[in-house]
Amino acid sequence: MSTFGSYYRVTTFGESHCSSVGAIIDGCPPGLQLTPEDIQTQLSRRRPGQSDLTTPRNEKDLVHIQSGTEHGVTLGTPIGLLVKNEDHRPKDYTETDLYPRPSHADYTYLEKYGVKASSGGGRSSARETIGRVAAGAIAERFLKIAYGIEIVAFVTSVGKIHLPANVAPPALVPSPEDEDEVEDSLSPEFQKLLSTITREEVDKYPSRCPHQETHERMTKRIMRAKDANDSIGGTVTCVIRNVPSGLGEPVFDKFEAKLGHAMLSIPATKAFEIGSGFKGTEVPGSKHNDPFVLKDDGKLGTSSNWSGGVQGGITNGEDIYFRIGFKSPATITQEQKTAQYDGTPGTLAARGRHDPCVVPRAVPIVEAMAALVVIDMVLAQNARKGAAALLPAITTLPLTMVMPPKEKLVQQQ
Ligand SMILES: Cc1cc2nc3c(=O)[nH]c(=O)nc-3n(C[C@H](O)[C@H](O)[C@H](O)COP(=O)(O)O)c2cc1C
Repeated sequence: MSTFGSYYRVTTFGESHCSSVGAIIDGCPPGLQLTPEDIQTQLSRRRPGQSDLTTPRNEKDLVHIQSGTEHGVTLGTPIGLLVKNEDHRPKDYTETDLYPRPSHADYTYLEKYGVKASSGGGRSSARETIGRVAAGAIAERFLKIAYGIEIVAFVTSVGKIHLPANVAPPALVPSPEDEDEVEDSLSPEFQKLLSTITREEVDKYPSRCPHQETHERMTKRIMRAKDANDSIGGTVTCVIRNVPSGLGEPVFDKFEAKLGHAMLSIPATKAFEIGSGFKGTEVPGSKHNDPFVLKDDGKLGTSSNWSGGVQGGITNGEDIYFRIGFKSPATITQEQKTAQYDGTPGTLAARGRHDPCVVPRAVPIVEAMAALVVIDMVLAQNARKGAAALLPAITTLPLTMVMPPKEKLVQQQ
């Protein structure tokens, strides 16, 4: 489907070479101050042609707000967002008239619909993600004002080049020989990175890896792929800070399930893990559990965060962090032995302008999808809480059924 979310519903439209792409948002809270600039910043971080590391397709990707706001304020009615496709060159794709591109979506779209866009990736193109990024920017604005929520994504690997172990997410830390020895996976450096990283810091590096030496190695790796008419994959890590506890809709719409759904709907994604992820399978429970502590704000929190801020599918108030794996883009200009639609074996050397590595441009898309998940969960939880608040308070419940009063928590310390 082309619609994501239940309360903040985003429908994206558009193909790679049609006249425009965009989104319609239904359910945006009314009374939010909003200008095109609030959306444009993230669209410009996503746009092609930002550096030598991305596709040279030259699109300004200027957003036009079509509806749903007046005098710079949201009306609560559907918001229409439109971005024109300007630099499309369908003729660049004539060699794929005969050939489905290996590992792209040409063959499967045709099998599914029996008809497909005549050039480029059509609906499967990353042009579609413009609507997501625009809708995500509005969601983020609400979340920032309402809760101070911050979402920052950054590149953690390109090919086999990873952030150094001391600042890397758990999965990238090498395991010690001794089975029970716990590696310093949630190193203070990694935790500091999660709690302090900003978009400005990330954007100082065209690779969007906020570590000078690693950035330089990644740049060389991407340029090597590009010069060889090839491509390379990578990972993006994202942190969401200041998320209130209690978000997530068990059991089928657990917070991490929705996050996984959102992330794996981004083109070229192949993997998703949250918190300790696959690394959590190697660490014994005695070391992997996140002990509870009383935090400075008087609330219960945890002293470690292997869980990645989610337990039982519900946020616990700690930072939420997760990692997404992006494959090497399918369209490469070097010759590949493959077959035509009719099965005739042949050689395809694709033309057109393509990203040698998608992760630098995927960063704002990941942030947008994270924002769409959080706002949907926020609106769901507020609907529930609002409805519950209409009922008279029950004071007769046993203590085992309710949160003990705060004074009691302090006494127990
Ligand atoms: C930001 C971004 C840019 C992309 N650029 C390209 C590209 O230039 N060439 C390409 O073949 N795929 C590119 N992709 C990936 C394709 O859209 C995707 O691989 C294709 O639609 C097949 O879908 P799948 O990989 O999800 O199975 C890009 C993806 C993203 C997120």
